[in-house]
Amino acid sequence: MKIIAGNWKMNGSQSALDKIISDLSEIDTQNTVILCVPYTMLNTKSDKIAIGAQDISKHTSGAYTGEISAQMVASTGAKYVIIGHSECRQYHGDTNSDVREKATQALNNGLIPIICVGETMDEKQAGKTMAVIESGVRECIPSDINTKIIIAYEPRWAIGAGLTPTSAEIADAHNLIAKTLADMGLSGTPILYGASVKGNNAAEIMSISNVDGVLVGGASLKSDDFIPIITSVK
Ligand code: 13P
Repeated sequence: MKIIAGNWKMNGSQSALDKIISDLSEIDTQNTVILCVPYTMLNTKSDKIAIGAQDISKHTSGAYTGEISAQMVASTGAKYVIIGHSECRQYHGDTNSDVREKATQALNNGLIPIICVGETMDEKQAGKTMAVIESGVRECIPSDINTKIIIAYEPRWAIGAGLTPTSAEIADAHNLIAKTLADMGLSGTPILYGASVKGNNAAEIMSISNVDGVLVGGASLKSDDFIPIITSVK
């Protein structure tokens, strides 16, 4: 059983979400399916698909115009929230320390954080991939947690680019994350791979050791693209 999570980013509409949820309800799968949608759609209910947000504030409440708190997201019935996504790091300047504060907010409000780590192209070319991944895991996860979290390895240079690392590179990254999590007392934490996952590479990626599922961007927007990813694995 795998975790197949979609990240809609700033795309889609309520009618498109209703349609994909109806299509996904027809398929026979044991996999956990999550859709992380824009805030305006978080109220959407489904028996089979879990709903998540794509970011939250690191603050509890107050004068933070435009921000949404973990408590607000939880009050919609959403169960998950992506934290530290590459685009939030790039466009909003989120650091590992911000990510850790957001993860704390998520956990305090009963949300399962999907914490993203991964290297930029510059970091990859400088030979820093493994160091960035390990420090991401160590610095983004709050200490003393006793509830579930999910980690997503998203090589930032590969997102939306139609590029993927080699299977050996994905295996190295995921093995390092699993080893680091074990060292932190968090063995068994699911580790997702994300960046340019499609129907034609999903099964191969999810056959790699320590890949417990995928975080899918563009290919999660339409049933025709997302269903083949979900049904590619048992
Ligand atoms: P793509 O699948 O479009 O490359 O996006 C990946 C991603 O950013 C998921 O969070």
